[in-house]
Amino acid sequence: MMEHQNPQENAAYNSIRDTLSAGSVEMEERSELISLRPKRLKEYIGQAKVVETLKIGIEAALKREEPIDHILFHGPPGLGKTTLAHIIAEEMGVSITLTSGPAMERGGDLLGILTRLEEGDVLFIDEIHRLPRVVEEFLYPAMEDFAVDFVFDKGLNARSHRYRLEQFVLVGATTRAGLLSPPLRERFGIFRTLGFYSVEDLTRVAKRSAAILDIEIDDDGAYEIARRSRGTPRIVNRLLKRVRDFVQVRGDGVIRKAAVQEALELEGVDERGLTALDRQFLKTITEYYKGGPVGIEAIAATLQEESDTLVDVVEPYLLKIGFVTRTSSGRKASQEAYRHLGLPIQQGLFT
Ligand code: ADE
Repeated sequence: MMEHQNPQENAAYNSIRDTLSAGSVEMEERSELISLRPKRLKEYIGQAKVVETLKIGIEAALKREEPIDHILFHGPPGLGKTTLAHIIAEEMGVSITLTSGPAMERGGDLLGILTRLEEGDVLFIDEIHRLPRVVEEFLYPAMEDFAVDFVFDKGLNARSHRYRLEQFVLVGATTRAGLLSPPLRERFGIFRTLGFYSVEDLTRVAKRSAAILDIEIDDDGAYEIARRSRGTPRIVNRLLKRVRDFVQVRGDGVIRKAAVQEALELEGVDERGLTALDRQFLKTITEYYKGGPVGIEAIAATLQEESDTLVDVVEPYLLKIGFVTRTSSGRKASQEAYRHLGLPIQQGLFT
């Protein structure tokens, strides 16, 4: 049997579908179910080590009746950093407040949020590496001593007030752990990197999501979506919805391999799951810069894209599949990249 076929799991996904279609689920609950995000750790597919760390941390904290340590998640977009923050709050039975680094400009913005947190509540800060320095400095005593000193007015009128905070849990997420200042990074008790998912795990995600969306999918169809999803569950779910549209309009309503291939070709997603931007990135290196090495800023200028987008979104997967390498003098395209793009390899380029 192929690895992506698991009768037991298939039965479980069918049961999700049955529950939904039996009409036994109240509307409100149904809209909850319609969200594709797993709500509890036991529903979470993949990232086995991260999940195990969290299980132990959460269970220990619940036993001691204490909040869990501050947690930092690192990794490319779409791998589940926000989802895990929601799950932690759910498992601990507390509320979650969501914000992001760039959304906070002044210390006061953070103070307002911090003083509203109750004991054990989760504060999730996405893109925490983009927190302005003044706000970050506020965060240190808040994380360590659960207190912040806020200075009102300036000069002769300056007054300081110490706010006591409840013992909250900070969950930070970043695509670039290297950009986090060391004092901030050191204040997290748990630091985990989320890596790209295996095709097997993504196949399970595709089947689980298809069951929730109440769309029929066969094993090869799920595998084909998984294979083209750049190691990323968020992409699985996005492509799944596009393929669902396709089979409902052009097909018989069932997601099979051939339909996935046709639908994703329309989406500009190729055999390896690369998008137009991925291919442009590679072609910039191969055609414009003769295979590299070339600096990221030069690629960004050629593509008229933000270099941050390229570094955070495009490059990680191309590095992971070995299409791009990073050297001290810049990015290079690999032989596999040339082959994938169907480009001739000039003598001496790789020898
Ligand atoms: N949907 C998106 N990510 C998921 C995951 N890791 N497990 C289950 N369902 C998901």
